[in-house]
Amino acid sequence: MASKNVTANRATLGHRVAYALRHPGRVPRHLARATRDAWLHHRASDHIAYYRAVMRHDTRADPDAAVGSRNRERWLALGAMQFDYLLGHGLRPEHRMLEIGCGNLRAGWRFIRHLDPGHYYGVDISPDILMAAQDTLVEMGLQQRLPVLTPVRDLTLRFLPDAHFDVVHAHSVFSHSPLTVIDECLAHVGRVLAPGGWFDFTFDRTEGEEHHVLREDFYYRTETLLALAEKHGLTARFMTDWEQLPHGQSKIRVSHGPDAGPPEAAAPEVADAGVREARSR
Ligand SMILES: C[S@@+](CC[C@H](N)C(=O)[O-])C[C@H]1O[C@@H](n2cnc3c(N)ncnc32)[C@H](O)[C@@H]1O
Repeated sequence: MASKNVTANRATLGHRVAYALRHPGRVPRHLARATRDAWLHHRASDHIAYYRAVMRHDTRADPDAAVGSRNRERWLALGAMQFDYLLGHGLRPEHRMLEIGCGNLRAGWRFIRHLDPGHYYGVDISPDILMAAQDTLVEMGLQQRLPVLTPVRDLTLRFLPDAHFDVVHAHSVFSHSPLTVIDECLAHVGRVLAPGGWFDFTFDRTEGEEHHVLREDFYYRTETLLALAEKHGLTARFMTDWEQLPHGQSKIRVSHGPDAGPPEAAAPEVADAGVREARSR
């Protein structure tokens, strides 16, 4: 099981100095990220434009690393973890699925293979990562499954039909999002959720002060996100079975009512050692 550090405030000077002393080899990389952060923030009109530029830069270097996996083994294992979890919670081939921030289909290719043709819809703010997603489709031989992959500039989901998706999934997206972006998503996701459907998202959890590191990594209290969902008329619950898995983030499930969505399942076995890293994205 991953040990999550939910009390640290990574934005404080004290934490950063202590971290640098413990990991001096990581300082140059962090300084490079901080410089990029300042430059892209200066040029970008808003957070989405900023993060799209981050993704362009990271995807050109390595699409797997851009979605948070330092090698193919981890990329495969993190995708399997997401897929196995949803399968354990009743994801069926006839379901219609929307993946928000689908990246280069780390989990998406497994969803696409499992679902009936045309039942997977992936959106992302980064055209660069969506082109890498097309490469994944080719690599996995999934052209016949006919998934839709669409760039978006916001999360109003206004071009999607009412009550259409049984499952909406966002893994490691809100961990990179300011509260305004999460608020916008929660304000609109209920409209596209089918009756009985559910929306799972992961987030970086803190039990201390909410904070962010650069403009890339955001840490929220569970109560903040539960309250935000409820403000938009949704029912939200913290998924305790996800905590059993070796992943650094936590998960919340949102639905139209207390009876919607499947019950919690036994946590799936995750055999691959490639996922056993607490800070996996
Ligand atoms: C860490 S990656 C994870 C990708 C994928 N969910 C996975 O698990 O492999 C985060 C992805 O979310 C996308 N993203 C970030 N903010 C977004 C937003 N507001 N709307 C849609 N996509 C977003 C990024 O472009 C990136 O592809």
